[in-house]
Amino acid sequence: MATVRISHISKSFGENTVLQDFNETFRDGEFITLLGPSGCGKTTMLRIIAGFEKPTGGELYLDERLVSGGKTFIPPERRSIGMVFQSYAVWPHMNVYDNVAYPLTIRRTPKDEIRASVQRVLDIVHLSQYAERLPNQLSGGQQQRVALARALVATPGLLLLDEPLSNLDAKLRESMRFEIKEIQRKTGITVVYVTHDQTEAMAMSDRIFLINRGVVQQSGSPDEIYNRPVNQFVADFLGKVDFFKGDAQEGRIVFPAMGGQTLPYEGPRSGRVDVAIRPENIVIDPEGPLSGRLEALYYLGDVMDCRVRAGEALVRVIAPGYLHGSLQIGETVRLSVRDFMVFEDDGLLEEILRIQT
Ligand SMILES: Nc1ncnc2c1ncn2[C@@H]1O[C@H](COP(=O)(O)OP(=O)(O)O)[C@@H](O)[C@H]1O
Ligand SMILES: [Mg+2]
Repeated sequence: MATVRISHISKSFGENTVLQDFNETFRDGEFITLLGPSGCGKTTMLRIIAGFEKPTGGELYLDERLVSGGKTFIPPERRSIGMVFQSYAVWPHMNVYDNVAYPLTIRRTPKDEIRASVQRVLDIVHLSQYAERLPNQLSGGQQQRVALARALVATPGLLLLDEPLSNLDAKLRESMRFEIKEIQRKTGITVVYVTHDQTEAMAMSDRIFLINRGVVQQSGSPDEIYNRPVNQFVADFLGKVDFFKGDAQEGRIVFPAMGGQTLPYEGPRSGRVDVAIRPENIVIDPEGPLSGRLEALYYLGDVMDCRVRAGEALVRVIAPGYLHGSLQIGETVRLSVRDFMVFEDDGLLEEILRIQT
Protein backbone atom coordinates (compact mmCIF):
# COMPACT_ATOMS: atom_id res chain seq x y z
CA MET A 1 0.00 0.00 0.00
CA ALA A 2 1.56 3.27 -1.06
CA THR A 3 0.51 6.60 -2.46
CA VAL A 4 2.95 9.28 -3.51
CA ARG A 5 1.84 12.89 -3.35
CA ILE A 6 4.20 15.32 -5.02
CA SER A 7 3.23 18.85 -4.14
CA HIS A 8 4.83 21.65 -6.17
CA ILE A 9 8.27 20.04 -6.10
CA SER A 10 11.09 21.91 -7.77
CA LYS A 11 14.79 21.16 -7.89
CA SER A 12 17.78 23.24 -8.93
CA PHE A 13 21.46 22.45 -9.01
CA GLY A 14 23.01 25.91 -8.70
CA GLU A 15 21.63 27.96 -11.58
CA ASN A 16 20.30 24.90 -13.35
CA THR A 17 16.58 24.31 -12.75
CA VAL A 18 16.05 20.61 -13.32
CA LEU A 19 12.44 20.20 -12.13
CA GLN A 20 9.74 22.86 -12.17
CA ASP A 21 6.61 22.63 -10.10
CA PHE A 22 6.01 18.89 -10.28
CA ASN A 23 2.55 18.47 -8.83
CA GLU A 24 0.91 15.03 -9.00
CA THR A 25 -0.46 12.17 -6.95
CA PHE A 26 0.41 8.56 -7.75
CA ARG A 27 -2.36 6.30 -6.48
CA ASP A 28 -2.01 3.04 -4.63
CA GLY A 29 -1.24 0.15 -6.99
CA GLU A 30 -0.64 2.34 -10.04
CA PHE A 31 2.08 1.67 -12.57
CA ILE A 32 3.47 5.14 -13.25
CA THR A 33 6.11 5.90 -15.86
CA LEU A 34 8.24 9.02 -15.96
CA LEU A 35 9.12 9.33 -19.63
CA GLY A 36 11.23 11.87 -21.44
CA PRO A 37 14.48 12.54 -23.28
CA SER A 38 17.81 12.13 -21.55
CA GLY A 39 18.50 14.93 -19.08
CA CYS A 40 14.85 15.97 -18.62
CA GLY A 41 14.86 15.30 -14.86
CA LYS A 42 13.43 11.76 -14.52
CA THR A 43 16.18 10.33 -12.33
CA THR A 44 16.20 13.48 -10.19
CA MET A 45 12.47 13.05 -9.50
CA LEU A 46 12.98 9.40 -8.62
CA ARG A 47 15.89 10.26 -6.28
CA ILE A 48 13.73 12.86 -4.55
CA ILE A 49 11.03 10.22 -3.97
CA ALA A 50 13.66 7.79 -2.70
CA GLY A 51 15.22 10.40 -0.41
CA PHE A 52 18.65 10.52 -2.05
CA GLU A 53 18.01 14.11 -3.08
CA LYS A 54 16.32 16.99 -1.25
CA PRO A 55 13.92 19.12 -3.30
CA THR A 56 14.62 22.85 -3.54
CA GLY A 57 10.94 23.59 -3.00
CA GLY A 58 7.65 21.80 -2.40
CA GLU A 59 6.66 18.78 -0.35
CA LEU A 60 6.65 15.05 -0.83
CA TYR A 61 4.21 12.78 0.99
CA LEU A 62 4.31 8.98 1.11
CA ASP A 63 1.00 7.55 2.28
CA GLU A 64 0.07 11.10 3.26
CA ARG A 65 3.05 11.31 5.60
CA LEU A 66 5.34 14.27 4.92
CA VAL A 67 8.81 12.87 4.10
CA SER A 68 10.46 15.88 2.39
CA GLY A 69 9.59 19.54 2.74
CA GLY A 70 10.14 22.47 5.07
CA LYS A 71 12.31 21.24 7.92
CA THR A 72 11.22 17.63 7.50
CA PHE A 73 13.45 15.06 5.84
CA ILE A 74 13.00 11.33 6.34
CA PRO A 75 16.13 9.44 5.12
CA PRO A 76 15.84 6.73 2.42
CA GLU A 77 16.22 3.77 4.79
CA ARG A 78 13.11 4.88 6.69
CA ARG A 79 10.87 5.27 3.63
CA SER A 80 10.27 1.55 2.98
CA ILE A 81 10.86 1.76 -0.74
CA GLY A 82 12.30 -0.90 -3.06
CA MET A 83 14.67 0.28 -5.79
CA VAL A 84 16.36 -1.06 -8.90
CA PHE A 85 18.70 0.98 -11.05
CA GLN A 86 20.13 0.60 -14.52
CA SER A 87 23.39 -0.91 -13.31
CA TYR A 88 21.93 -3.74 -11.27
CA ALA A 89 24.44 -3.95 -8.44
CA VAL A 90 24.16 -7.53 -7.27
CA TRP A 91 27.00 -8.66 -4.99
CA PRO A 92 29.30 -10.82 -7.15
CA HIS A 93 30.61 -12.89 -4.21
CA MET A 94 27.16 -13.80 -2.84
CA ASN A 95 24.90 -16.42 -4.32
CA VAL A 96 21.38 -15.53 -5.42
CA TYR A 97 19.83 -16.51 -2.11
CA ASP A 98 22.20 -14.34 -0.05
CA ASN A 99 21.88 -11.42 -2.46
CA VAL A 100 18.11 -11.46 -2.14
CA ALA A 101 18.21 -12.07 1.62
CA TYR A 102 20.62 -9.18 2.21
CA PRO A 103 18.11 -6.40 3.08
CA LEU A 104 16.54 -8.70 5.69
CA THR A 105 19.86 -10.03 7.02
CA ILE A 106 21.11 -6.54 7.87
CA ARG A 107 17.87 -5.96 9.77
CA ARG A 108 18.51 -9.12 11.78
CA THR A 109 15.24 -10.69 10.68
CA PRO A 110 14.84 -14.25 12.08
CA LYS A 111 16.30 -16.93 9.78
CA ASP A 112 13.07 -18.84 9.05
CA GLU A 113 11.29 -15.61 8.24
CA ILE A 114 14.09 -14.71 5.81
CA ARG A 115 13.83 -18.13 4.19
CA ALA A 116 10.09 -17.77 3.62
CA SER A 117 10.42 -14.24 2.23
CA VAL A 118 13.30 -15.12 -0.11
CA GLN A 119 11.46 -18.16 -1.42
CA ARG A 120 8.36 -16.08 -2.02
CA VAL A 121 10.14 -13.42 -4.10
CA LEU A 122 12.36 -15.91 -5.97
CA ASP A 123 9.12 -17.61 -7.00
CA ILE A 124 7.71 -14.32 -8.24
CA VAL A 125 10.76 -13.63 -10.42
CA HIS A 126 11.05 -17.30 -11.56
CA LEU A 127 14.49 -17.89 -10.02
CA SER A 128 13.72 -20.50 -7.32
CA GLN A 129 15.94 -23.11 -8.96
CA TYR A 130 18.90 -20.71 -9.13
CA ALA A 131 19.19 -19.88 -5.40
CA GLU A 132 22.66 -21.41 -5.08
CA ARG A 133 24.15 -19.81 -8.18
CA LEU A 134 26.62 -16.97 -8.20
CA PRO A 135 25.71 -13.91 -10.32
CA ASN A 136 28.42 -14.66 -12.92
CA GLN A 137 26.63 -17.96 -13.61
CA LEU A 138 23.49 -16.05 -14.62
CA SER A 139 22.43 -14.16 -17.75
CA GLY A 140 21.96 -10.39 -17.67
CA GLY A 141 18.20 -10.79 -17.48
CA GLN A 142 18.47 -13.25 -14.59
CA GLN A 143 20.80 -10.89 -12.72
CA GLN A 144 18.32 -8.10 -13.20
CA ARG A 145 15.61 -10.34 -11.75
CA VAL A 146 17.84 -10.97 -8.72
CA ALA A 147 17.99 -7.19 -8.26
CA LEU A 148 14.19 -7.05 -8.56
CA ALA A 149 13.74 -9.85 -6.01
CA ARG A 150 16.05 -8.06 -3.60
CA ALA A 151 14.05 -4.85 -4.03
CA LEU A 152 10.83 -6.74 -3.28
CA VAL A 153 11.94 -8.95 -0.38
CA ALA A 154 11.15 -6.47 2.39
CA THR A 155 7.60 -6.08 0.93
CA PRO A 156 7.81 -2.37 0.19
CA GLY A 157 4.61 -0.61 -0.86
CA LEU A 158 6.50 1.34 -3.47
CA LEU A 159 9.01 0.17 -6.07
CA LEU A 160 11.21 2.63 -7.96
CA LEU A 161 12.81 1.43 -11.20
CA ASP A 162 15.30 3.60 -13.08
CA GLU A 163 15.84 2.35 -16.64
CA PRO A 164 16.20 -1.20 -15.28
CA LEU A 165 16.15 -2.82 -18.73
CA SER A 166 18.50 -0.59 -20.67
CA ASN A 167 21.51 -2.90 -20.27
CA LEU A 168 19.64 -5.87 -21.72
CA ASP A 169 19.38 -6.90 -25.35
CA ALA A 170 16.21 -6.12 -27.32
CA LYS A 171 14.50 -9.53 -27.01
CA LEU A 172 15.14 -9.82 -23.30
CA ARG A 173 13.99 -6.26 -22.76
CA GLU A 174 10.68 -7.08 -24.33
CA SER A 175 10.06 -10.19 -22.24
CA MET A 176 11.19 -8.45 -19.03
CA ARG A 177 8.57 -5.75 -19.63
CA PHE A 178 5.85 -8.30 -19.27
CA GLU A 179 7.53 -9.89 -16.26
CA ILE A 180 7.77 -6.58 -14.42
CA LYS A 181 4.17 -5.82 -15.24
CA GLU A 182 3.17 -9.28 -14.02
CA ILE A 183 5.11 -8.81 -10.77
CA GLN A 184 3.34 -5.53 -10.20
CA ARG A 185 -0.04 -7.15 -10.81
CA LYS A 186 0.71 -10.04 -8.44
CA THR A 187 2.03 -7.89 -5.62
CA GLY A 188 -0.30 -4.90 -6.04
CA ILE A 189 2.68 -2.68 -5.40
CA THR A 190 2.85 0.94 -6.61
CA VAL A 191 5.57 1.28 -9.25
CA VAL A 192 7.33 4.40 -10.47
CA TYR A 193 9.26 3.47 -13.57
CA VAL A 194 11.75 5.72 -15.34
CA THR A 195 12.59 5.29 -19.01
CA HIS A 196 13.36 7.26 -22.16
CA ASP A 197 11.89 4.40 -24.23
CA GLN A 198 8.36 5.22 -25.32
CA THR A 199 7.48 1.65 -26.30
CA GLU A 200 8.38 0.45 -22.81
CA ALA A 201 6.22 3.21 -21.33
CA MET A 202 3.29 2.39 -23.63
CA ALA A 203 3.46 -1.33 -22.88
CA MET A 204 3.55 -1.16 -19.09
CA SER A 205 2.00 2.00 -17.70
CA ASP A 206 -1.34 2.85 -16.20
CA ARG A 207 -0.29 6.49 -16.52
CA ILE A 208 2.62 8.11 -18.30
CA PHE A 209 4.13 11.45 -17.28
CA LEU A 210 5.93 12.87 -20.27
CA ILE A 211 8.58 15.34 -19.14
CA ASN A 212 10.60 17.83 -21.17
CA ARG A 213 13.22 20.07 -19.57
CA GLY A 214 11.90 19.49 -16.08
CA VAL A 215 8.29 20.27 -16.93
CA VAL A 216 5.52 17.69 -17.19
CA GLN A 217 4.09 18.17 -20.67
CA GLN A 218 1.21 15.75 -20.29
CA SER A 219 0.07 12.93 -18.06
CA GLY A 220 -2.46 10.29 -18.94
CA SER A 221 -3.05 6.73 -20.03
CA PRO A 222 -0.99 5.47 -22.99
CA ASP A 223 -4.10 5.85 -25.15
CA GLU A 224 -4.70 9.46 -24.09
CA ILE A 225 -1.13 10.50 -24.54
CA TYR A 226 -0.75 8.80 -27.93
CA ASN A 227 -4.08 9.79 -29.42
CA ARG A 228 -4.73 13.14 -27.77
CA PRO A 229 -1.34 14.80 -27.34
CA VAL A 230 -1.63 18.34 -25.94
CA ASN A 231 1.29 19.72 -27.89
CA GLN A 232 3.71 18.94 -30.69
CA PHE A 233 6.43 17.75 -28.35
CA VAL A 234 4.14 15.01 -27.02
CA ALA A 235 2.90 14.06 -30.49
CA ASP A 236 6.47 13.84 -31.71
CA PHE A 237 7.92 11.95 -28.74
CA LEU A 238 5.42 9.08 -28.82
CA GLY A 239 5.36 7.01 -31.96
CA LYS A 240 6.08 8.30 -35.43
CA VAL A 241 4.64 11.50 -36.75
CA ASP A 242 5.23 13.93 -39.61
CA PHE A 243 4.32 17.60 -39.44
CA PHE A 244 3.08 19.59 -42.42
CA LYS A 245 2.39 23.31 -42.56
CA GLY A 246 -1.11 23.99 -43.74
CA ASP A 247 -3.64 26.71 -44.35
CA ALA A 248 -7.12 26.02 -42.98
CA GLN A 249 -9.93 27.37 -45.13
CA GLU A 250 -13.62 26.58 -45.47
CA GLY A 251 -13.94 22.82 -45.35
CA ARG A 252 -10.31 22.03 -46.11
CA ILE A 253 -6.65 22.41 -45.27
CA VAL A 254 -4.35 23.38 -48.11
CA PHE A 255 -0.72 22.22 -48.02
CA PRO A 256 1.51 24.65 -49.97
CA ALA A 257 4.51 22.29 -49.81
CA MET A 258 2.43 19.59 -51.50
CA GLY A 259 1.74 21.86 -54.44
CA GLY A 260 -1.58 23.00 -52.97
CA GLN A 261 -3.07 19.56 -52.36
CA THR A 262 -5.80 19.50 -49.72
CA LEU A 263 -7.37 17.37 -47.02
CA PRO A 264 -11.00 17.79 -45.98
CA TYR A 265 -11.33 19.64 -42.64
CA GLU A 266 -14.46 20.69 -40.77
CA GLY A 267 -12.72 22.10 -37.70
CA PRO A 268 -13.00 25.56 -36.16
CA ARG A 269 -9.58 26.83 -37.18
CA SER A 270 -8.76 29.06 -40.11
CA GLY A 271 -5.36 30.31 -41.18
CA ARG A 272 -1.97 28.73 -40.56
CA VAL A 273 -1.91 25.40 -38.75
CA ASP A 274 0.51 22.55 -38.22
CA VAL A 275 -0.93 19.21 -39.20
CA ALA A 276 0.52 16.09 -37.63
CA ILE A 277 -0.02 12.77 -39.36
CA ARG A 278 1.05 9.40 -38.05
CA PRO A 279 2.34 7.26 -40.94
CA GLU A 280 0.23 4.28 -39.85
CA ASN A 281 -2.86 6.44 -40.40
CA ILE A 282 -2.16 6.96 -44.08
CA VAL A 283 -3.64 4.44 -46.44
CA ILE A 284 -2.75 3.78 -50.05
CA ASP A 285 -6.14 4.27 -51.63
CA PRO A 286 -6.99 4.93 -55.31
CA GLU A 287 -9.78 7.26 -54.13
CA GLY A 288 -7.54 9.20 -51.71
CA PRO A 289 -7.34 13.01 -51.78
CA LEU A 290 -3.52 13.21 -51.83
CA SER A 291 -1.19 11.96 -54.50
CA GLY A 292 2.54 11.59 -54.96
CA ARG A 293 5.34 9.55 -56.38
CA LEU A 294 6.52 6.49 -54.47
CA GLU A 295 10.15 7.41 -53.90
CA ALA A 296 11.37 4.70 -51.52
CA LEU A 297 10.06 1.50 -50.06
CA TYR A 298 11.53 -0.57 -47.25
CA TYR A 299 10.05 -4.03 -46.82
CA LEU A 300 10.20 -4.95 -43.13
CA GLY A 301 8.18 -8.16 -43.23
CA ASP A 302 5.13 -7.19 -41.21
CA VAL A 303 4.95 -3.71 -42.75
CA MET A 304 6.40 -1.62 -45.54
CA ASP A 305 7.88 1.74 -44.72
CA CYS A 306 7.20 3.94 -47.76
CA ARG A 307 8.18 7.51 -48.68
CA VAL A 308 5.90 9.34 -51.06
CA ARG A 309 7.01 12.61 -52.65
CA ALA A 310 4.10 15.05 -52.87
CA GLY A 311 5.41 18.32 -54.26
CA GLU A 312 8.30 19.25 -52.00
CA ALA A 313 6.92 17.30 -49.06
CA LEU A 314 7.96 13.78 -48.23
CA VAL A 315 5.09 11.77 -46.76
CA ARG A 316 5.87 8.67 -44.76
CA VAL A 317 3.40 5.80 -45.09
CA ILE A 318 3.40 2.56 -43.11
CA ALA A 319 1.62 0.08 -45.38
CA PRO A 320 0.78 -3.54 -44.59
CA GLY A 321 3.51 -6.00 -45.57
CA TYR A 322 1.18 -8.08 -47.75
CA LEU A 323 1.06 -5.25 -50.29
CA HIS A 324 4.69 -6.07 -51.08
CA GLY A 325 5.03 -6.79 -54.78
CA SER A 326 2.02 -4.72 -55.74
CA LEU A 327 3.89 -1.40 -55.39
CA GLN A 328 6.65 -0.13 -57.66
CA ILE A 329 9.12 2.61 -56.87
CA GLY A 330 8.44 5.54 -59.19
CA GLU A 331 4.73 4.92 -59.58
CA THR A 332 2.12 7.48 -58.61
CA VAL A 333 0.01 6.53 -55.61
CA ARG A 334 -3.02 8.15 -54.04
CA LEU A 335 -3.30 8.45 -50.29
CA SER A 336 -6.12 8.91 -47.85
CA VAL A 337 -5.58 9.91 -44.25
CA ARG A 338 -7.55 8.11 -41.54
CA ASP A 339 -6.98 10.76 -38.94
CA PHE A 340 -4.73 13.65 -38.26
CA MET A 341 -4.05 16.23 -35.58
CA VAL A 342 -4.22 19.95 -36.08
CA PHE A 343 -2.04 22.22 -33.97
CA GLU A 344 -2.04 25.98 -33.80
CA ASP A 345 0.90 27.46 -35.56
CA ASP A 346 2.24 29.46 -32.61
CA GLY A 347 5.52 27.97 -31.41
CA LEU A 348 5.69 26.22 -28.05
CA LEU A 349 2.42 25.15 -26.50
CA GLU A 350 0.19 24.30 -29.43
CA GLU A 351 -3.31 23.24 -28.71
CA ILE A 352 -4.78 20.14 -30.26
CA LEU A 353 -7.95 21.17 -32.00
CA ARG A 354 -9.39 18.18 -33.65
CA ILE A 355 -8.79 14.60 -34.55
CA GLN A 356 -10.87 13.86 -37.55
CA THR A 357 -11.60 10.89 -39.71
N1 LIG B 1 24.02 16.01 -8.59
C1 LIG B 1 23.86 16.83 -9.64
N2 LIG B 1 24.53 17.99 -9.73
C2 LIG B 1 24.35 18.84 -10.77
N3 LIG B 1 23.52 18.61 -11.80
C3 LIG B 1 22.82 17.45 -11.78
C4 LIG B 1 22.95 16.50 -10.71
N4 LIG B 1 22.12 15.47 -10.97
C5 LIG B 1 21.51 15.76 -12.14
N5 LIG B 1 21.92 16.93 -12.64
C6 LIG B 1 21.45 17.58 -13.89
O1 LIG B 1 20.04 17.57 -13.87
C7 LIG B 1 19.51 17.35 -15.17
C8 LIG B 1 18.55 16.18 -15.14
O2 LIG B 1 19.26 15.01 -14.85
P1 LIG B 1 18.54 13.62 -14.65
O3 LIG B 1 17.46 13.75 -13.64
O4 LIG B 1 19.60 12.62 -14.37
O5 LIG B 1 17.91 13.38 -16.09
P2 LIG B 1 17.31 12.04 -16.75
O6 LIG B 1 17.27 10.97 -15.70
O7 LIG B 1 15.96 12.45 -17.24
O8 LIG B 1 18.22 11.71 -17.89
C9 LIG B 1 20.70 17.14 -16.08
O9 LIG B 1 20.96 18.34 -16.73
C10 LIG B 1 21.82 16.79 -15.13
O10 LIG B 1 23.05 17.20 -15.64
MG1 LIG C 1 18.22 9.10 -15.71
